[in-house]
Amino acid sequence: MSLAVLASGTGSILDAMVRADLPVALVVSDRLCPAVRCAVGHDVEALVVQRESFGADFDRVGYSAVLADRLAEHAVTMVAMAGFGTILGQPFHDRFAGRVLNTHPALLPAFPGWHAVRDALTAGVGVTGCTVHLATLEVDAGPILAQEEVLVWPDDDEASLHERIKVVERRLYVDTLRSILAGEILLESVFEGAKS
Ligand code: GRF
Repeated sequence: MSLAVLASGTGSILDAMVRADLPVALVVSDRLCPAVRCAVGHDVEALVVQRESFGADFDRVGYSAVLADRLAEHAVTMVAMAGFGTILGQPFHDRFAGRVLNTHPALLPAFPGWHAVRDALTAGVGVTGCTVHLATLEVDAGPILAQEEVLVWPDDDEASLHERIKVVERRLYVDTLRSILAGEILLESVFEGAKS
């Protein structure tokens, strides 16, 4: 497996993956961010495919095609999104169908979208968590590979709750990738099974 990690944030999940000796061949970001510095710090090749726009004129399809090309140039066989800030379109999912993973800071299908932690707090749930899943064109809706609950504390704010969720994500994502590497999770079956 030659794994590319897509990250746009602090990169703490990326850091956990590298420290766990997962075969991270490449880190890709859509902006200069701490995740890129994390990659460089670990001597992992880092690529910034800068977004030209974060507005309504953003060419999502064009960007997704360029990103897919760049990953193909690096002979990437699997993609793990870990806090990537761009929703990828059809050309990317066509190229890497069934081989794109994501982690989401809620128990999907509850609280999809960018503000999952905030939305869980607003809803007043006592339990939330995180989900590792196959990413498909429909955002946060791909087949679920692993989930774990995290209790919401009465005095939690978005930052405190998100940090406790991320502690779990770092372990759960690494464990899930290890299970894929070991052949204990067969992505092809999961992907095909979800279609039928
Ligand atoms: C994680 O909570 C992930 O689920 C979300 O962004 C966060 C990334 O955290 N999409 P980090 O940048 O790895 O610290």
